[in-house]
Amino acid sequence: MAKVRTAYVCSRCGGVSPRWSGQCPQCREWNTLVEEVLRQATPRSGARSRTGRPNAAPAPILLEGVPAEAAGRWPVGLGDLDLALGGGLVPGSVVLVGGEPGIGKSTLLLQLAARFVGAGRSVLYVSGEESAAQVRIRAGRLREPAMRVPFLAETDLEAILAWLEAEPVDLLVLDSVQTVYLPPLESTPGSVLQVREVATAVGEHAKSRGAAVFLVGHVTKEGGLAGPKTLEHLVDVVLYFEGSGSLDHRVVRATKNRFGPVDEIAVFRMTPEGLDPVLNPSALFLSGRRPGVSGSAVFVALPGTRPVMVEVQALTPRTLRGRAPRSPAGPPQRVASGFDARRLALLLAVLDRRAGITAGAGDVFVNVVGGLQIEETAADAAAAAAVVSAARDVPVDPQAVCFGEIGLGGELRAVAGMDRRLAEAARMGFQRAVVPEGDAGPDGIEVVRASDVAGLLHALFG
Ligand code: TYD
Ligand code: MG
Repeated sequence: MAKVRTAYVCSRCGGVSPRWSGQCPQCREWNTLVEEVLRQATPRSGARSRTGRPNAAPAPILLEGVPAEAAGRWPVGLGDLDLALGGGLVPGSVVLVGGEPGIGKSTLLLQLAARFVGAGRSVLYVSGEESAAQVRIRAGRLREPAMRVPFLAETDLEAILAWLEAEPVDLLVLDSVQTVYLPPLESTPGSVLQVREVATAVGEHAKSRGAAVFLVGHVTKEGGLAGPKTLEHLVDVVLYFEGSGSLDHRVVRATKNRFGPVDEIAVFRMTPEGLDPVLNPSALFLSGRRPGVSGSAVFVALPGTRPVMVEVQALTPRTLRGRAPRSPAGPPQRVASGFDARRLALLLAVLDRRAGITAGAGDVFVNVVGGLQIEETAADAAAAAAVVSAARDVPVDPQAVCFGEIGLGGELRAVAGMDRRLAEAARMGFQRAVVPEGDAGPDGIEVVRASDVAGLLHALFG
């Protein structure tokens, strides 16, 4: 690089400003501008062939002319990871794996690399985070033959790509995208520009070589993937480790997938020998449940295309009905874990207005057990049932599940995949399901239709 020019780039919107200021002039976010080196644009050669077309110009082809193998997939075979990937790993794709430190990203990818080696594919595991000795210790613990995974401790991406030009691989793991850097760029490793350029260079390599690349990405304290939002746009698939590392199981969710449905999850248990696929996630999530205790309701979630059952818990002051106790100081707290806190506030307002159950100034806590993040409004019914159960100190029918979206008018609305949810509840041995109006349910479970919150509560509490 002959001349180095710098500018200030917003790490939120990507907007470029010539000088620093506390607020991004484009998106108005505070403290997001970081200094970055600008890349010199290389003008395309203007040379033209005799046909008048640019020499190096790409020529379009008909889609039917694309070989079908290009869309073939490599099965990973690690539990539901293939499902989360949309049906196996796509050659030529880049998968970003995000999650808190210590949650199991490196472990999962080393297992995956070992499986690929076992299947006769070529692999390179590059770590900029850990030494070969550290990774060897991890490899020794795994059930997979991870000792046979080719390993490189390197952070210079140009050196890594040069090696791959000579020795191409099917699978490349880069652990992590924040430690690897391109030397011509003067920004430090992990900076917005470096992360973006590393992801772009790796993506170009993957596409041109038909290799699959896994990038490990760190997560900031706020829970977002570190680096620019654009990183997620540059990759094909984003797999995200949900929840905290304090539990012994791990939920990996596809939050973006160019090759399949999003939100598919794969559940693992962290064992001394690595991550073990959990074959029956519903049983795992319900395993600690104490039937007959108030403040708990069972929900059938449908994160992707496959249902999974979870327990929704609530804790409230005892006297929600009518006269609510005073909160000691400040506004009441609505704290939700695994559930949207604003949605909880909305549900409390609906319960107050439409069912005469008020939380008043009391604190209300809602928790989805097991670290699964519930984004669906279908969980409204279970959250409301758990809150009312806690407030009244009356348990929900332990043999019943419920789901459905609650509208502002107090109506219980139909949700997607009702038949699949009911089938999962029946499979797990539940006897009743309180759900919105809809088609007939499967055999083996009594389906109670409720049209509003009052009907829902009546069916669950009798
Ligand atoms: P790791 O894969 O290093 O996490 P990340 O790359 O996301 O930072 O996993 C780290 C944790 O997992 C660490 O606390 C040790 C634990 N662990 C096991 O419990 N069993 C195992 O077989 C391995 C390899 C790690
Ligand atoms: Mg790691």
